[in-house]
Amino acid sequence: MAVPRRPNQRRSEQRGPVAGRPERRRQGRFPGSLRLPGIRPVALPAREAAGWYRRSVFYEVLTRGFFDANNDGAGDLAGLRAKLDYLEWLGVDCLWLLPYYPSPMRDGGYDISDFFTIHPQLGSLDDLVAFLDEAHRRGIRVIADLVMNHTSEDHPWFVESRSSRDNSRADWYVWNDDDKRWPEARVVFVDVETSNWTFEPKRGQYYWHRFYSHQPDLNYENPEVVETMFGVVRFWLDLGLDGFRLDAVPYLFQADGTTGENLPETHELLRLLRKEVDAVYPDRVLLAEANQWPSDLVDYFGDGDECHMCFHFPLMPRLFMAVRREQRFPLTEILTHTPEIPKDCQWAIFLRNHDELTLEKVSEEERDYMVAEYVKDPRMRRHLGIGRRLAPLLDGNRRLAELLYAMLFSLPGSPVIYYGDELLMGDNVYLGDRDSVRTPMQWSPDRNGGFSRADFAQLYLPPLMDPVYGYEAVNVEAQQRNPSSFLHWIRSILQIRRQFDVFGTGGFDLVSCANPSVFAYVRSPVPPAPPPEGKRKAKARDPKPQDPVSQPPGTGTNPVLCVHNLSRFAQAAELDLVRWAGRTPVELLGRVPFAQVGGGTYGVTLGPYGFFWFELLEELSQGSVVPGIGGAL
Ligand code: NOJ
Repeated sequence: MAVPRRPNQRRSEQRGPVAGRPERRRQGRFPGSLRLPGIRPVALPAREAAGWYRRSVFYEVLTRGFFDANNDGAGDLAGLRAKLDYLEWLGVDCLWLLPYYPSPMRDGGYDISDFFTIHPQLGSLDDLVAFLDEAHRRGIRVIADLVMNHTSEDHPWFVESRSSRDNSRADWYVWNDDDKRWPEARVVFVDVETSNWTFEPKRGQYYWHRFYSHQPDLNYENPEVVETMFGVVRFWLDLGLDGFRLDAVPYLFQADGTTGENLPETHELLRLLRKEVDAVYPDRVLLAEANQWPSDLVDYFGDGDECHMCFHFPLMPRLFMAVRREQRFPLTEILTHTPEIPKDCQWAIFLRNHDELTLEKVSEEERDYMVAEYVKDPRMRRHLGIGRRLAPLLDGNRRLAELLYAMLFSLPGSPVIYYGDELLMGDNVYLGDRDSVRTPMQWSPDRNGGFSRADFAQLYLPPLMDPVYGYEAVNVEAQQRNPSSFLHWIRSILQIRRQFDVFGTGGFDLVSCANPSVFAYVRSPVPPAPPPEGKRKAKARDPKPQDPVSQPPGTGTNPVLCVHNLSRFAQAAELDLVRWAGRTPVELLGRVPFAQVGGGTYGVTLGPYGFFWFELLEELSQGSVVPGIGGAL
């Protein structure tokens, strides 16, 4: 793969992708970077910058579905800005915006028709910058989806490319004379597409697409494509974004005799991208969306020189499997098969997102099991998975939802909450494709759930109105008023989590226990790395650094024991805590000390779907037992 060191842009791209857009001008060593006049993104304090994504809780938000500030029936960036108070109150650290680009919306905006601006329904670039400034002022970071793999067939690049075999963008996409090449590559949307090739009569050729046939794949063998897409990255980082979720990264290249996934060329491209980003935009994050097995997933971190983060896809369905089987095995198995990741990298972990509950990375037998357990109506199936939100998947069982969140917030990785799941919002399986889980955010019991004052018929999707999950029953206003609501519970547990860095950056050790329904582990501080060779001598004379495991309580520097009961019945467990003998577990929600750990096993009893998080204190001081913010829990 030849990637140019110098841009190779056409005049039209250098001018800026749409008429009337301010001129791009050179900045740093990145030609093509853009500053809009009068727009100066607010930077976050450097002090908190390094590795911020490892200590962050992410919140995935559909701008179109969050809040409609101009009452045209779709949420917008101004609406998102108006709801920053709520997001700050909730206590999330970084927002992930689903695609906000112009698009014919045949794949929820993942079918982009212009990479350089905002979908007019959602607002303008000015709205984005105003939103970023306000978010940053509150210490909230923002990343956005970027689809590098493909465009919409409506994108002018593709319109030109498909028009003939000899136009100036003829090889910006992947073309072939027949549809026989790369038979090993699977069809991802297997329920909708029958091939990765679609015929284009104007060229008398087939184009390649890994997803919908209206989403042609870009050709990364073409250096012009590489440089143009790197220009897209610079464009948005210049506007102040804190990073990207890189959609569908495993498929950027194709090669004979391969499945076209995770190819070395793809990794080479990501390394190059990372280098470019790091050089000019420190502390931004690249989050890979790669629905792969753990052994392939870790390659997206490279040697710490590819993506900073990567979704742990195989963990997600196993959380649902484990609670249905009431056994920890699916979790311990996948965690045991998850390799170590490079320093400064981080998993992104999640329960639900804007897509179906994917069942790609489970065995056939496990898939059958999940379908049998979680699909009550064939209409709930989407692609290879299940198109439902968290609460309906759990039959609205709050205790079970708390248990799943407790695991999400304590397992290694940065948790990602899907908008509305903090309320236990429902879904609408009668809507097409993944729209079942993309209905408007429910703010209040008012008209349209307080989401918009447009006429109901004008809304981008109908809000939920059923008696169980409809906006009259489930909404932010009601839950904010009720201190025992699920929303308050989430907020409180996030506040507790925030006090313990170990949840984000600590080590992970499974705790053995004979009861298979109990899933226990310790998150411990990782000792600081030894100083580099040259500095060691001088350091030796320094006072011995304090053992990080004997820090004062509540400082986030003590190990935390997490114990979860995956069963719907009460359970007793004998935990092997010998390594922690002499310590006193202090339960974190109420800061209540439990019996000291002795030399034998440690007995714990848990209620149905119950869990405990304990700080393991070496010495119990007065400060250990304080009425905590967990009081409301
Ligand atoms: C992954 C996105 O999450 C999904 O919504 C989309 O359909 C595919 N990528 C294709 O872009």
